[in-house]
Amino acid sequence: MKKIIAANWKNNGSKKFIKDYFDYFLKNLVSNNEIIIFPPDLYIDKLNHYRDKDNFNLGGQNMTYVCDDVTQTSGLSSDMFIDNGCNYILVGHSEVRGQYTACNEAAKSLYVSNDLQVIFCIGESADAKKNGNTQNVLIKQLEDLCKKGNYPKVNPKKVIVAYEPVWAIGTGNIPKIDDISFIHRFIKTYVSENHPFLKEKDIMVLYGGSVSLKNAQDILSARYVDGVLIGGASLDAEEFTKICNLKI
Ligand code: 13P
Repeated sequence: MKKIIAANWKNNGSKKFIKDYFDYFLKNLVSNNEIIIFPPDLYIDKLNHYRDKDNFNLGGQNMTYVCDDVTQTSGLSSDMFIDNGCNYILVGHSEVRGQYTACNEAAKSLYVSNDLQVIFCIGESADAKKNGNTQNVLIKQLEDLCKKGNYPKVNPKKVIVAYEPVWAIGTGNIPKIDDISFIHRFIKTYVSENHPFLKEKDIMVLYGGSVSLKNAQDILSARYVDGVLIGGASLDAEEFTKICNLKI
């Protein structure tokens, strides 16, 4: 079954890194999965030159929320991402959410995503997990996705949620496979019951947090898992290409 395999490069990469990476990646990629790479903004155009019709998709790691008619230094709009070959955008990654204080920028940027497919990131902290608050935290985050006023100007035909437990990011720890399936099912049920027009079949859930070649096959084969969002392991061209090539 076709899965989404997404690479979040975070703040990594250089022109030399990209050349070496794509020398290997393009030579060895034999995948039927949908591949998305999220490089740092400065390198999006560079990666776009390696794109063929179908080999991989591009996305931005975050988008600026700018009110209508306001200028914003350092702002990046959905049109700019699209102009540079992107068709996806990450919204609300835990490493980005933490930087905001007064208001929930993650939810607001759903307003301006236009034609970009949003991947809406959610996940509980170690404390929330320890205190048995995982589902409450996820509901609070998912409320933003289901609020009427937060829809993009173009109504989404599908929603992609990335479940990334904060305690699993970069730690080498992952939840038990059954727990991943349980939470993914919970997310699909919650969104389908609270979103006015999206049905369960329109909701895809990716898992993120310490995905590697060692555990990717098990995670991708689990029920209710539609794909993975990979940080550290996606920086190793060989490891990432092998994950892309997995047959599920
Ligand atoms: P790691 O795969 O390095 O744990 O990072 C996950 C992540 O944050 C992807 O968005």
